[in-house]
Amino acid sequence: MPVPASPVPPAPAAPLGVAPLEVAPGALWYREALDRAAQAALLADIRAVIAAAPLFVPTMPRTARPFSVRMSNCGPLGWVSDTSGYRYQPFHPDTRLPWPPIPPALMALWATYAACPVPPEACLVNVYAADARMSLHQDRDEADLTAPVLSVSLGDTALFRIGSDDRRGATRSLKLASGDIFLLSGPSRLAFHGVDRILGGTSTLLPEGGRINLTLRRVTAA
Ligand code: SIN
Ligand code: FE2
Repeated sequence: MPVPASPVPPAPAAPLGVAPLEVAPGALWYREALDRAAQAALLADIRAVIAAAPLFVPTMPRTARPFSVRMSNCGPLGWVSDTSGYRYQPFHPDTRLPWPPIPPALMALWATYAACPVPPEACLVNVYAADARMSLHQDRDEADLTAPVLSVSLGDTALFRIGSDDRRGATRSLKLASGDIFLLSGPSRLAFHGVDRILGGTSTLLPEGGRINLTLRRVTAA
């Protein structure tokens, strides 16, 4: 009996051995992680998510002021904000339907980049029009802070600000471009971060302009 040929391992989704830029301990920036074809495929996946779970306008808990960013989610849990507070919940705030599943391409990015043994439970979809921004905040609504937050940027470049876990600490600005992956992990898991502005006309990926940011999160403690 001939010995069966060993299966050819699938190509890794990211060039293994490509070192990220570590902008602070645990704040890892993989520039141009996704090529144009991968960005376009992911965009099609996210358009399908938004078709099933329409964009909603979150509001600030205390003031009921609307966010300038519109949102959706996929995965078993989704992040929402309204006058009852910030939280994760398994259904869309308007349609009350369960969130659609996280697309396989995003699950694969988590497997490749997150260095986390458990799968993500939520993917927040942030849609930035040209004039949208997001003020400095920490991602701390998750019970499991050992898992990273993995962000994927699509469309126009964002002027992204990141500091430390001290709100008054020094910050620095980075330009997150379409196809970039950014991880808040380890000592930077609770780093303050935000988007100061969108740099219009810097990408042709979204015909309507603006930016889409996807963040994969683990929510419950294992
Ligand atoms: C977020 O903090 O939820 C989004 C960050 C980004 O848009 O890059
Ligand atoms: Fe955040």
